[in-house]
Amino acid sequence: PPKEPPVIRREDYTPFPWRVPQTRLEFALGVDSTRVVGTLAVEPNPDASPAEEIRLAGDGLEPLSVEVDGQGANDWRMDDGDLVIALTPGSHEVRVTTEIDPAANSQLMGLYASNGMLCTQCEAEGFRRIAFFPDRPDVLSTFTVRMEGPKDLFPVLLSNGNKVAEGDEGGVKEAWHWAEWHDPWPKPSYLFALVAGDLVARKDTFVTMSGREVELAIWVRAEDLPRTEHAMESLKKSMKWDEEVFGREYDLDVFNIVAVGDFNMGAMENKGLNVFNTKYVLADPETATDGDYDGIEGVIAHEYFHNWSGNRVTCRDWFQLSLKEGFTVLRDQLFSQDMQGEAVKRIEDVRLLRSVQFPEDSGPLAHPVRPDSFREISNFYTSTIYNKGAEVIRMMRTMAGPERFRKGTDLYFQRHDGEAATCEDFVTAIEQGADLDLTQFRLWYSQAGTPKVEVDLAHEGETATLTLRQSVPPTPGQPDKKPMPIPLRLALFDRKSGTHRGEELVVLDRAEATLSFAGYAEKPVLSINRGYSAPVAIEREASVDDLVFLAAHDDDAFARYEAMQELIVGHLVAAVGDGLSDADRDAGRAAIGGALRAVVADPALDDQMRGELMMLPSQTYISEQLLVADPGRIHAEREALKGWLGNTLEAELVALHERASGRSDGMSAEARGARKVKTQALVFLAAGNPERAAQMAAAQYDAATTMTDRQGALMVLCGLSGVERTNKLIDFYNRYRSNALVVDKWFSLQASALHPQAIEHVKALADHPDFTLKNPNRVRSLYMAFAGNPHAFHAESGEGYRMIADLILALDPINAQTAARFVPPLGRWRRIEPGRAGKMRAELERIAEAKGLSRDTFEQVTRSLG
Ligand code: ARG
Ligand code: ZN
Repeated sequence: PPKEPPVIRREDYTPFPWRVPQTRLEFALGVDSTRVVGTLAVEPNPDASPAEEIRLAGDGLEPLSVEVDGQGANDWRMDDGDLVIALTPGSHEVRVTTEIDPAANSQLMGLYASNGMLCTQCEAEGFRRIAFFPDRPDVLSTFTVRMEGPKDLFPVLLSNGNKVAEGDEGGVKEAWHWAEWHDPWPKPSYLFALVAGDLVARKDTFVTMSGREVELAIWVRAEDLPRTEHAMESLKKSMKWDEEVFGREYDLDVFNIVAVGDFNMGAMENKGLNVFNTKYVLADPETATDGDYDGIEGVIAHEYFHNWSGNRVTCRDWFQLSLKEGFTVLRDQLFSQDMQGEAVKRIEDVRLLRSVQFPEDSGPLAHPVRPDSFREISNFYTSTIYNKGAEVIRMMRTMAGPERFRKGTDLYFQRHDGEAATCEDFVTAIEQGADLDLTQFRLWYSQAGTPKVEVDLAHEGETATLTLRQSVPPTPGQPDKKPMPIPLRLALFDRKSGTHRGEELVVLDRAEATLSFAGYAEKPVLSINRGYSAPVAIEREASVDDLVFLAAHDDDAFARYEAMQELIVGHLVAAVGDGLSDADRDAGRAAIGGALRAVVADPALDDQMRGELMMLPSQTYISEQLLVADPGRIHAEREALKGWLGNTLEAELVALHERASGRSDGMSAEARGARKVKTQALVFLAAGNPERAAQMAAAQYDAATTMTDRQGALMVLCGLSGVERTNKLIDFYNRYRSNALVVDKWFSLQASALHPQAIEHVKALADHPDFTLKNPNRVRSLYMAFAGNPHAFHAESGEGYRMIADLILALDPINAQTAARFVPPLGRWRRIEPGRAGKMRAELERIAEAKGLSRDTFEQVTRSLG
C-alpha cells in the first residue's frame, strides 16, 4: 500500500544548515518546455549545526546537470523528490539545471500556463516544482532572474524587483528576447514570481511619503484594460493609507500586478509582482457587483500590505502563517472600514467569521491560530488562520487602544525587518511596544475552539449585577482548555431615555466573574460585545423586549445588528427545536415583524445599514446554535418566516423597493445602499408573494444599469419557477457569454438558488460546454455555490453529498488543492441529524478508499472521518 504522507510538527523546527545569500535563476521559456538553471551561492549557517550535504527540495523535478563550484558533481542523490548534494564545509556555488512543462501543470502550483501566458504561484511550496531549492520560508536569498523567450508569445517579461537590463540579442533563438530582473530585498522562495505573456498595462505613479516616485502597473489582456481603473485606485489608496496608519512606505521603484484567469486562490503577494485572480482585478459597473468592487479594494490592499507584513518581515515556518495572514487581514479590514464606513464593514467581517470560521472551529478540522502539526500546508490556508487570526490581533488593539497598538507594530517592524519571525515575536513586540501584559492572552494562539460566554444580568434595589462565565469547548487533540482573556465592550441602557452612561471595556480572564453597577433604579438593558470586541459566542437569556429595544436604539451599529439577529435566531432555534405553540409562533413573528418594519421605516438609517439589519441569519449560523441540526427543518422554518414577513410587510417592502429604485444608479454610497435594500426587499417578497416578486425582479433586471441590480434580480428569479426565470437566464448568458467572470456568476446563481430542482440544474450545468474542471473559478462557481446551498446540498436522498464526493474524486488528480477545499462541507456530518450524517460519512469513506489520493485530500478526508 502507498505510504501515508508524514505529519510535520511545529516542535520539530530546526534551522537550515546552509545560508543562500544569492540566487540566480535563468529561464528559457516555452509553454510546453521551460529550461531552468538555478545557481545558488551557499555557505554554512552559523546558527545551525554543520552538515556535510545540502538538501534541495524538489517536486516532480529531474536534475539534468548538477555542478558544484563550476565542476560537474558526482556525489549527489535523489531522495523522495529532493536533490541531496554532498558539500565540504565552507562556501560553494551550486548549479542545477532542470526542465519543466508549464502546459501540463494543471495543479496551478509552480510555473504554469494560463491563456497562453506563463505565470507562477509558489506559496507555500510551489517553488520546488520550478527549481531545486531550500524551499522554506526561513531561507532568505537575494534573487536575480534572467528570462528569455519568443517575443511574439511573450512580449512582456516580468519578475520581482526592478528590471535591470533587457535586449533582443543573445537569445538562444532568433525572434527571442530577454530581460533581467533584480530584487534587492532578500526573500524566501515562496515570494518568487515570474510572468511572461502578451499583456498590456494600466500605468500610474505614486509618490511615497519620503518623496520617491514608484511606477505602478496593472497587467492584463488587452480587452480587459478598460476594467482596471478601480484596481489602480484601490492600489493608490492602499499605499497612502499604509503610510498614514501604519507608517509603512513602499520600498521598490516599481509595483506590478498581473491578472490571471486560472488561479487557485484570490491573489499572491510576490515581492514587487503581485499575481491576482482576475476576479480581484477586473471591474466595471456593467459586469461587476458592488460586492465585487469591495472585494477588489480589499484584496488589492491585502496583497499590498503584505509587502511589510509578510515580505519585509516573513514567517519562520508555516506554523506561523497567521503571523502574516492574520495581521494582514486585520490591516485590510481596518483599511476597508476607513474607505467604506466602519459599521457595515464590521458586520460583513463578523458574518464571514461566523459562517465559515465558527463551523471550522466546531468541527473535525478545528485547529489553533498557530497549528501544532499538518501533513499538507495548503490545507491550512483557512478561515481560522486568516479571520480568527485577525480577530486575535484586533483584540490586542482593542485592549491597547489604537495609539499604543501602533507603538507595538512599529516595534515589531523595526525589530524584525529582514527576518523570518514567529507569532511569539509578534506578541512580544506588541506586549513591549504597547505596554500590555499578554502572558495569558497567548492562549488565543494555542487553543482551538470558539469560546462561549454565558451572560446573566440581575437587578436588585439600585444595583445591576452582571455575571460572566466562559468555557472553551474541546477540539480534536485538545480535550481540556484554560480560560482566556476576553475583552468585552459593554454598555447599560436606561430603558426610558434610551441612553447609557458610557461604554466600558471588561476583560474576562477567569472562568467566571461578577461585576456590579450601582445607581440603577430600574433594571437596565445590557448591550455586550459591542463592535464584536471578542470572537466568542455570547449566550444570554435576553427578553424579546430587550432585543427589540436594542435593535431600535443601540448606538453601536454592530450591537443593533446583533440584537436583530438574536431575535430571529432565538425564534428559529425554538421553532426547529421543541417546536412552537401557535401562540408562541405568533408572538415571535409579531416581534420580528415589528422590528423589521421599524428598520424598513427608520429615517435615521442609511440604506447600507438598513440592508444589513434586514438580512436574515444564514442557515449555517442557525445550525451552529444546535448540537445536531436537521437541515431540512431549519430550511423550512427559515423560509416560512421569510414568507410570513414578505407577506405581512408586503406594502412596506414594495414601497421601499420603489423608493430605492429612484436613486439606485451610479457608484455613490447612496446608490449602493439603494441597490442593497432593493434586492433585500425582493428576497422577502419572493417568499411572500412569488408572482409579484417575479414581476418586480424581471422589471429590475430589464431596467438595471449595474450588475448589482441585474444580478440581484436574477438571483431572486432563479429561486422561482416560471417563464421569467428561463428568459432572464438565457438573456444573461447571451449578453455576457464572452466574459468569464460573469459566466461564473451565471453558474453560481443557478447552483445556489432556492429552486426545488437546483440539484438537477447543477447536474445539467456540469455538462454545459462552458464548464471545465481545469479552471478553479469555474469549478467553485458551480460546486462551491452548490455546497453552500443548504436545501440542495443536504437533499434527504444524499444525492448532493454524492455529487460533491464525485467532484472531489474527479478533481483530485487535476487540482488537489482545489479538490481538498470541497471536503469540509462533508466533514460536518457529526453535527447533522443521523440519517444524513450516515450518508455524508459514507461518501467520505468512499473518497478515502480511492487509490492515489493527493496529500491534500488524504489529510482532509482522514481528519474529517476522525
Ligand atoms: N498569501 C496569499 C494571500 O493571503 C495566499 C496564497 C495561498 N496560496 C496557496 N497556494 N495556498 O493573499
Ligand atoms: Zn494574505
